[in-house]
Amino acid sequence: MNLAFKLNTGYSIPLVGFGTYQIRGSELIYETLDYALNAGYRHIDTAVVYGNEHHIGNALKKLLPKYNLKREDIFITSKLISQVNKGERFVEELVLKSLSNLQTEYIDLYLIHWPGVSGLQVSHPDNIKYRKCTWNVLTKLHREGKCRSIGVSNYTVKHIRELLADCNGVRPAVNQVEWHPRCFQLELLELCRSEGIFLQAYSSLGTSNYTELRQDPVVTDIAARLNRSPAQVLLRWGLQRNVGVLPKGSSKGHIDENIALDFVIPPEDMKSLDHLKETSGAKFAWNPDTVV
Ligand SMILES: NC(=O)c1ccc[n+]([C@@H]2O[C@H](COP(=O)([O-])OP(=O)(O)OC[C@H]3O[C@@H](n4cnc5c(N)ncnc54)[C@H](OP(=O)(O)O)[C@@H]3O)[C@@H](O)[C@H]2O)c1
Repeated sequence: MNLAFKLNTGYSIPLVGFGTYQIRGSELIYETLDYALNAGYRHIDTAVVYGNEHHIGNALKKLLPKYNLKREDIFITSKLISQVNKGERFVEELVLKSLSNLQTEYIDLYLIHWPGVSGLQVSHPDNIKYRKCTWNVLTKLHREGKCRSIGVSNYTVKHIRELLADCNGVRPAVNQVEWHPRCFQLELLELCRSEGIFLQAYSSLGTSNYTELRQDPVVTDIAARLNRSPAQVLLRWGLQRNVGVLPKGSSKGHIDENIALDFVIPPEDMKSLDHLKETSGAKFAWNPDTVV
């Protein structure tokens, strides 16, 4: 199953993408992307800080012909963290470096990874100035066709409103945030939806560092009754709200399973999953709430 959503730029983004955080090294990237393309994934999520863009570029060069795919058949996302005081030209070079690492003339989606700025305290008012500088660069590259869609990640309601008030003529197409039954914000979803911003979930499975979400008894019980795996239930829970998902998997079994999401979670089970936030709320990744 790989349905797509039409972004506010007119380009379609596959609802299920392949997350590559902590998948490093040319062999592992090649092997996992081979499994992913074979399973039907057409969307790959990376970032400058993942340190794997160049391995992805090399792997795709061989794998696209293997699966008889063209560049335009796949959707690639990358992202960068804003820098202190280095100017628009420097930020532009960083984005162009991502494109050259990925061996592509254009990128489908480029995100500001985090509202904060590398090397700056989260409470520092200059976070606003430098993330604005990064956004201006992305708008320029979008106009030049090098970044087909641009967006943000880890932006809270406050950061989204600030950007919409002064977006240099290009509205964000996507906001990628931690989103799973123990951590989600309907206010953010509603804001994004009403402003035409696609919400994309990361760490839907509770990250590589923790297993507790995948082992939550509410999740495992629903999975057993639906004859699916806990991971499939967690991913399907996101999709049933039209939120995109980006499961990271290292084995063929996990990668195949995470795109086989053609089933429905009944409303009463959706409610039980929604309720997990109240009973056992937990954030597994970084928290942008305190970034000014
Ligand atoms: N924008 C951001 O700030 C941000 C932050 C975090 C993540 N992300 C993106 O979102 C992606 C996903 O998030 P994540 O990397 O935090 O991890 P995740 O997808 O929530 O969880 C990955 C973990 O789940 C396991 N897993 C995968 N499929 C499974 C299955 N079917 N059954 C049981 N276990 C399974 C994986 O094991 P194996 O590896 O052993 O298969 C790994 O330990 C990232 O890779 C990245 O692309 C973005």
